[in-house]
Amino acid sequence: QWAAVDAYTTSHLHKQPSTLNDALSNALSASAAASLPSIAISAIQGKFLMLQARLLRARHILEVGTLGGYSTIWLAHANPYVRITTVELDPHHAAVSRQNVDAAAVGNRVEIVIGSGLDVLPRLVEEVRRGDREAWDMCFIDADKENNWNYFDLSVKMSRGGALVVVDNVVRRGLLADDEAAQSDSLIQGSRLLVEKLDGDERVDSTVMQMVSEKSYDGMLLAVVRDDIKEFLK
Ligand code: DHB
Ligand code: MG
Repeated sequence: QWAAVDAYTTSHLHKQPSTLNDALSNALSASAAASLPSIAISAIQGKFLMLQARLLRARHILEVGTLGGYSTIWLAHANPYVRITTVELDPHHAAVSRQNVDAAAVGNRVEIVIGSGLDVLPRLVEEVRRGDREAWDMCFIDADKENNWNYFDLSVKMSRGGALVVVDNVVRRGLLADDEAAQSDSLIQGSRLLVEKLDGDERVDSTVMQMVSEKSYDGMLLAVVRDDIKEFLK
């Protein structure tokens, strides 16, 4: 039923320019042909993120976890000016995503940084602090779930007040709330650490949105950085 509803609504509401739809399906087939795992966000999740970026009038977006660039292509269509810096550990994934964003004609607005988020993000924090890089309007974290909290914390440190930080896959078919399952699953532990660290984190206002989709039952954490963030960065 979830997949049927996605198919029905996208058939009516995702008639964006065929260049975008072609680029998205090309990205998925090129990623599959290059043996990337088929774990990209769904089309509806992609459009949801794109619409949020459009609402923010985002100019600078950070993505952690590029995979084949499918979500990157969605985000790049928020508006004609948005630039995306996307961090990918696997050089093969990065090469495939470079081809995909170039084929989507958004490559000139996408910077792909190869490396571990734990290495790259602290460097980006320094660049933002030095003024060599703009603070982010939006961050999308969709990488190794064990480091959700680290990536989130670093992202907030280099985002503007009012920025949106989104973390994919925090619900994990409901296991987020399963104490027993969490004991033996580092992915659930990564999501729980994030939620529990945010309990009392005064830098952001946050919530978790459960989602069903053609992919599965999962969900995203949404957090907005408080406008008075600077007092926490001293
Ligand atoms: C899976 C799904 C994701 O969205 C992701 O980022 C990583 C893994 C999965 O279904 O395994
Ligand atoms: Mg994901």
